[in-house]
Amino acid sequence: MVIHTQKETLVQTLSSVSKNDKIGFVPTMGALHEGHISLVERALSENTVVVVSIFVNPTQFNNTVDLEKYPRTPEEDISLLNKLKGEVIVYLPEVSDLYDGTVAAKKYNFGNLENEMEGKHRKGHFDGVGTIVSKLLKIVKPDTAYFGEKDFQQLQIVKKLVALEKLPVEIVGCPILREANGLAMSSRNKRLNAKQFEEASTIYKTLKEVREKFSSTSLVGLNALVTERFLQNPNLKLEYFEIANEKTLKTAIRKNKDSKYRAFIAAFAGDVRLIDNMPLN
Ligand code: PAF
Repeated sequence: MVIHTQKETLVQTLSSVSKNDKIGFVPTMGALHEGHISLVERALSENTVVVVSIFVNPTQFNNTVDLEKYPRTPEEDISLLNKLKGEVIVYLPEVSDLYDGTVAAKKYNFGNLENEMEGKHRKGHFDGVGTIVSKLLKIVKPDTAYFGEKDFQQLQIVKKLVALEKLPVEIVGCPILREANGLAMSSRNKRLNAKQFEEASTIYKTLKEVREKFSSTSLVGLNALVTERFLQNPNLKLEYFEIANEKTLKTAIRKNKDSKYRAFIAAFAGDVRLIDNMPLN
């Protein structure tokens, strides 16, 4: 496995990949877990060469404490990737390799996708995501890039970004991997203590209940049910619950039989912010 810390050498290595070979790309912020590994394995099964970037992108954090506390485990990450069969190239840059001069995000208009849910609660977050994903896609120039559906809003925004910037890459969304208790796998789970880890499964259980009751219960009733479930678990603080149209990400105000809906939750376990989502129909 080759590790590049500078984009110039990465670009040089990738320039020797034959035009007939496919390049897959998995962008990550490190602290890799089985969810990331499933993306890399999928990429390896569909491409000749796979690039994995490990970079905690400062411009997508709206909270400096969250940025400071974000888990960083590069040695473990490398050893996990080393165990995989196939050609993985790691890009592990410093901030200065991706941002020259000021560390700032470009302003994007993603057709309002950026103003819903995560965008409302993490101001500027998707400008940061758009900025870094655009930079990385222009460096790696992959045929296909893989993103997890846990960050469903991010996945939709990345598809929009690629269309806006006319980048020749296919964006593939991959299913959420879960812990045995249902909690969605996330790098942030490393910051939960054992009690929080168990209690955080309420997020999954609640989403599952919403899915089961979606066709028989009104939207108002489902909102009340979620509020109730979180009141029953005071150690978990609900930031938002939304039932939204999968395409527009707008809050559903009625159930339209031709639309696809998804339920989204963001909640805090202590100071650890967790998100999850589930398709409803
Ligand atoms: O999903 C993530 O880990 C990050 O948002 C990404 C896509 C790697 C951009 O920093």
